[in-house]
Amino acid sequence: MPFPIHRYRRLRKNQQILRMVRETTLLVDDLIEPYFICEGKGVRDEISSMPGVYRFSIDQVKKEVLETQRLGIPAIILFGIPDKKDAVGSEAYNPDGIIQRAIREIKDTAPELMIITDVCVDEYTDHGHCGVVKGDQILNDPTIKLLAKMALTHAEAGADIIAPSDMMDGRVQAIRGALDNANFSDTLIMSYAAKYASAFYGPFREAADSCPQFGDRRSYQMDPGNSDESLREVLQDIEEGADIVMVKPALAFLDIIRRVRDEVQVPVAAYNVSGEYSMVKAAAQNDWIDGQRVMMEILLSIKRAGAKMILTYFARDAAKVLME
Ligand code: PBG
Repeated sequence: MPFPIHRYRRLRKNQQILRMVRETTLLVDDLIEPYFICEGKGVRDEISSMPGVYRFSIDQVKKEVLETQRLGIPAIILFGIPDKKDAVGSEAYNPDGIIQRAIREIKDTAPELMIITDVCVDEYTDHGHCGVVKGDQILNDPTIKLLAKMALTHAEAGADIIAPSDMMDGRVQAIRGALDNANFSDTLIMSYAAKYASAFYGPFREAADSCPQFGDRRSYQMDPGNSDESLREVLQDIEEGADIVMVKPALAFLDIIRRVRDEVQVPVAAYNVSGEYSMVKAAAQNDWIDGQRVMMEILLSIKRAGAKMILTYFARDAAKVLME
């Protein structure tokens, strides 16, 4: 028998065969672009730890979403930065709050974009935690009532997909119930189902000014040492009515994405979070890596791991590369 009988390099002989055998390809359809929205007029405030990512006032966001739509990106996710914060995050469920107004304006401007809203009170509370605080405790059950209220105001304003990111127990069921009761049974829920307590959220907390003022998020977000637990979280959220489940962060948790993908039949999303973005940008600015190639390799790896949807600050840059 001649050696070697298998020469795998035959399948890498030229561009055509590479294209023919490629198992995973990234599409613009897979991308979701995050937006930070603040009060004021004419605000385009670049986030220092996230070059190329801005806080926009609503009037500026309207121009930006047209570009997102033009690039063929199907969806955006909105984060609100209110002027006023208090202990229970009441601006979060103000029907005329920053996000509720932004949803209406964006729907008018770019009706083809699916609007996802992050549902969590941390950007709206003065203590920066994702729930109602008593002493040093983050209370679960009072918090899910607020989340349901917040989700409803988003749906009323025209949000297509509600994305709870708080990691309280039972919040998907509470939100589903509130939506259904108010005739929003067509509004989808994308739950941040396996969300880990991660240091990769650092730049986001600068962007959204949502750093916890005491303690950390380890009593509600998941321990990075756990994998089985992610399945319990994901399966419970599906049982409670989640249409899409998310794993977050993405890069240090590719094994979790794959495990979830193998286990469930609903679409899986992954959040390529702020710190993952900033690391690439910083290294690229130093000419230590080829930023564009690394970006595409990372996004492909998240898809290959099993995520159909990728929330990423690279959405536009990647869409441009894919268009070429
Ligand atoms: C909570 C929320 C966070 C992120 C998305 N939703 C921050 C946190 O849990 O502290 C982080 C996203 C990122 O780092 O890009 N509202």
